[in-house]
Amino acid sequence: MKVLGIESSCDETGVALYDTERGLLGHAVHTQVAMHEAYGGVVPELASRDHVRRLIPLLERVLAEAACTRRDIDAIAYTAGPGLAGALLVGASFAEALAMALAVPVLPVHHLEGHLLSPLLADEANAFSSDITPASGHESALKLCFPFIALLVSGGHTQLMRVARVGDYRLLGESLDDAAGEAFDKTAKLLGLGYPGGPALAKLAESGKPGRYKLPRPMLNSGDLSFSFSGLKTAVLTAARAQALSEADRADLAAEFQEAVTEVLAAKAVAACRQHQLSALVVAGGVGANRRLRQRLDEAMAKIGGRVFYPALELCTDNGAMIAFAGSQRLLQGEAPNRGGAFAVRPRWPLDQIP
Ligand code: KG4
Ligand code: ZN
Repeated sequence: MKVLGIESSCDETGVALYDTERGLLGHAVHTQVAMHEAYGGVVPELASRDHVRRLIPLLERVLAEAACTRRDIDAIAYTAGPGLAGALLVGASFAEALAMALAVPVLPVHHLEGHLLSPLLADEANAFSSDITPASGHESALKLCFPFIALLVSGGHTQLMRVARVGDYRLLGESLDDAAGEAFDKTAKLLGLGYPGGPALAKLAESGKPGRYKLPRPMLNSGDLSFSFSGLKTAVLTAARAQALSEADRADLAAEFQEAVTEVLAAKAVAACRQHQLSALVVAGGVGANRRLRQRLDEAMAKIGGRVFYPALELCTDNGAMIAFAGSQRLLQGEAPNRGGAFAVRPRWPLDQIP
């Protein structure tokens, strides 16, 4: 079965064709970063209009890459939420209309489900896993199987979930305020870095020394699996206001900020694995591309005989492949597709409330 995936929840247009027998046949992403850069953040109306412009050319590109035609598409999956309402509606209308024209089933998919299943996308999920050997004497999961713990770290969410199987997600803890990616973006802005801030801040941190500035580790010892990142941003602001920052100061501050965020994320992810006696941890969402976070998680999970599974780097940020994959798994499980042409998007949609 060949499933077309459409992603348009925020500032990336993603289209992909996933074959349940042969794997990913083609995928293409257009990022709107350059367009939103001038405004320092995503402008929803511009995002929607750009999705309209990109979807058909991206579809043509993916079909060409896959050496397929529209007639080869067996089903369509699209992101129905959470995300920007207008942007979601563009992808939803496109997918629903195309499905009607081709007379194929169409399925709305939760964006975060796409992210958290993405490490399963390749059969050889193992190829993307940590390359740090687990401590000897511990049995480690060599291949990703259910159940596992998922750490979702994106621009809008920071959540720890227990994933029992496709469609069975239990929320264990989440951020009480800013998401990790949001904290990266806002702090980057404070330090005068461009949008999107996460990768820019991570880059600056590489040349800095953590520890010179002292930032808190919010909720590290709270005894639960909740997070809080908004205070960290304020602490950076206070430090930045106290003195005129040189380039080296900014790098040191960025390095300390990255240490603080990644320390808390790693500690709580490992705590979730311990509490649930699970040795496989999946990391998904844009912040999952952060190298320091990966290093910390790999080391911490190896110490408890566990293993971390990541999506391929190019599939960490928003893309159509993860949506095609999540849709295909739901269809394989027998989920009824959307019928009758009526559809709705859900800009706010908790992952543990999917049917
Ligand atoms: O999952 P994603 O592409 O979009 C959402 O669904 O939100 O995540 C985007 C977030 C942004 O906040 C971006 O700054 C952050 O991921 N991000 C990073 C890195 N790459 C992307 N944050 C820290 N380090 C990175 N290397
Ligand atoms: Zn995302």
